[in-house]
Amino acid sequence: MGGTADVLPPEHDSVSARLADSQCDTSVAIFKQSWSTYHKLLEVDFLEHRALYTALRAMLLASFGAHATPVAMLDLGCGDAMQIAASLRQCGAPGGELRLACYTGVDMSAPALDLAAEYLSFLKPECDVQLVEQDMKEFVAASPSQSYDLAFASFAMHHLSLDGKIEFAAQVARCLKPGGMFVLVDIFLKEGEDRVQYMKRYRTNIDEAVTRGIIEAGEAETVMAHIDEFDFPESLLEFDGLAKGAGFESADCLLTDSKEFGRLVVLRKPR
Ligand SMILES: C[S@@+](CC[C@H](N)C(=O)[O-])C[C@H]1O[C@@H](n2cnc3c(N)ncnc32)[C@H](O)[C@@H]1O
Repeated sequence: MGGTADVLPPEHDSVSARLADSQCDTSVAIFKQSWSTYHKLLEVDFLEHRALYTALRAMLLASFGAHATPVAMLDLGCGDAMQIAASLRQCGAPGGELRLACYTGVDMSAPALDLAAEYLSFLKPECDVQLVEQDMKEFVAASPSQSYDLAFASFAMHHLSLDGKIEFAAQVARCLKPGGMFVLVDIFLKEGEDRVQYMKRYRTNIDEAVTRGIIEAGEAETVMAHIDEFDFPESLLEFDGLAKGAGFESADCLLTDSKEFGRLVVLRKPR
C-alpha cells in the first residue's frame, strides 16, 4: 500500500478488514465485491486518481483556503467518501487551512454510507457531518436555495442520463451561494467519441489491468457489465453547454488523466 497515502487514508486497512469479516445479505455482498475490485485498481493508481485528487486539493486550497467563513460542503453520490475524506484531511479540514463548517454526503447505498461515517469521523465535532441515504437528484431538488459554498460529485454524475444531468446541474446551481462552485471528478467522453467507442476504449483499458495481474478476468467482466448498465459520460463540450444552461459561468477542465478518462472540472456560479 506504500505510496498511496494521498489516495487511501490511514483507516483504509482496518475498514477493509472489517468489511471482509462482516456478515452480509446479497446487496451488501455485491457492494463488497465491487468495492474490493475498485480498491485493487486504486492501490496501484491504475485509475490515476492520485493526480486528479492532488489537483483537487490544490484547487480547494486556492479557492476556499482563505474563505472568510467556514465552508458548507455538499458531496453528491459520496459513496464511502474515502478519497474525499483523505483530501479534506490533507487540506487541513476541519479547522486548519481549509475550514469546514458542514459536510453533507448523499448516496443511495447504505453500506457505502456506513463506511463514509467511519472515514469522515475525524471531521467531528468541529464540522457538522450529515450522511443522507437518498437519490441525489431528489435531495438537491428539495434543498433550500443558496445553502452551500461547495458542491462536489466524484464519479457519480455520469450515472445520470443527459436530461437527468441537465436538471441536476440546474438544481445544484440553485443550491449554491453566489460565487459557489460545483466541482466534479468524473469520467468524460473524448471530444467526438460516442458511448460505443468509449466502451471499446474502456474494455482495452480494463483488459490491461487483467494482463498486469491487478484484477482477475472475472472482475473485469463485472466492471464492464457495471459500466454497460450505469455509465453515461458526456464530452467536455457537451458538459460546458449543460453547465451554462444551468446557470454556471462555464465548465473549466483543470486536469485530464493520461488515458483521457478522468477529469477534474469546475463549474462556477456567478457572484
Ligand atoms: C463510483 S461511486 C463513487 C463514490 C465516491 N463519490 C467516490 O468518488 O469514491 C458512485 C456512487 O454514486 C452513487 N449514486 C449513483 N447514482 C446515484 C443517485 N442518483 N443518487 C445517489 N447516489 C447515487 C452510488 O451509490 C455510488 O456510491
